[in-house]
Amino acid sequence: MKIQLAPMEGVFDSVTRDIFSQIGGFDHFVTEFIRVSAHLLPSSVFYRYCPELHNQGRTRHGDPVFVQLLGSDYELMALNAERAVDLGAPGIDLNFGCPAKRVNQHEGGARLLQEPERVEGVVSAVAKRVGSRVPVTAKVRLGYENKDHCVDIAKAAENGGATHLTVHARTKIEGYKPPAHWHYIAKMKRAISIPVYANGDIWTVEDAKRCLALSECENLALGRSAFSNPSLALEIKSQLLTVPAPSPGLSWQDLSGHWLPYFIETTRQTYSDQFALHRTKQWTKNLGRQFPEALDVFESIKRSQKLQELSSVLTFRD
Ligand SMILES: Cc1cc2nc3c(=O)[nH]c(=O)nc-3n(C[C@H](O)[C@H](O)[C@H](O)COP(=O)(O)O)c2cc1C
Repeated sequence: MKIQLAPMEGVFDSVTRDIFSQIGGFDHFVTEFIRVSAHLLPSSVFYRYCPELHNQGRTRHGDPVFVQLLGSDYELMALNAERAVDLGAPGIDLNFGCPAKRVNQHEGGARLLQEPERVEGVVSAVAKRVGSRVPVTAKVRLGYENKDHCVDIAKAAENGGATHLTVHARTKIEGYKPPAHWHYIAKMKRAISIPVYANGDIWTVEDAKRCLALSECENLALGRSAFSNPSLALEIKSQLLTVPAPSPGLSWQDLSGHWLPYFIETTRQTYSDQFALHRTKQWTKNLGRQFPEALDVFESIKRSQKLQELSSVLTFRD
């Protein structure tokens, strides 16, 4: 079983990827999406989204980080993918799932699911350009308005040359509304032979078990659940694989005593104090889903204006 950290724009940046990579349980990572709309992007953009390119596209712990591109112009997507690979990206992931109105209006993200032949066109253009050097993967939803074409979408990704497919088990219209329809992933998986990663609403080890059974997949992608429980991937592997992973999971003490201070220090060094403040509020709020103590921390810092104010509740180098 392989587990991927599902990309989350505005959430999973290089600092978070570094932390999740150190905690363990994940086999590979994907950047936030880089929009390709008008031209070949300068190298600085790729380094900004994927600082790991300075380390051969790997986290400090050594896990690969695929660069995610979003766009619909075949040639431009291929050109930008080539630049990312020239800079050291160990894989390219193509986004066909983004539901944002502005992105869809510009013919990007989930909008292409309405025309599976365009999904195939983008994947094929990118795979022809860089597929002999690195894996090219695709991330899709079950469809745009309905699920009628989910199998065509899966076949389009495979025919285009994708080496694996990640499926968020909802349509664009369904947004993030529960439930995720894992059994539809099985229909897609049966129609293709590349590995499929099942994604959407896997919050617990029990969910993972049910998702694997219903989707008929061996691989998973975790997004929001990993943000609220950073050791979920480890817990899934240690409970579902015959060879248990060494660590059963993280406690609140691990998070508050080590990972949150590390997160604050690394985020402020990499970005800024204000950004670290914003991200710490975001993470403690999300951790509150799994750890009630995190909600108490969030409640006491949510109105803080300066990072230094957090030092009364969280220990970090001030
Ligand atoms: C805030 C947020 C940002 C996201 N950004 C991306 C993105 O950049 N690329 C992408 O392919 N999916 C993105 N997604 C979708 C997730 O990767 C994932 O498919 C979705 O959240 C369902 O999985 P989950 O229930 O495990 O979170 C995003 C989701 C959220 C909530």
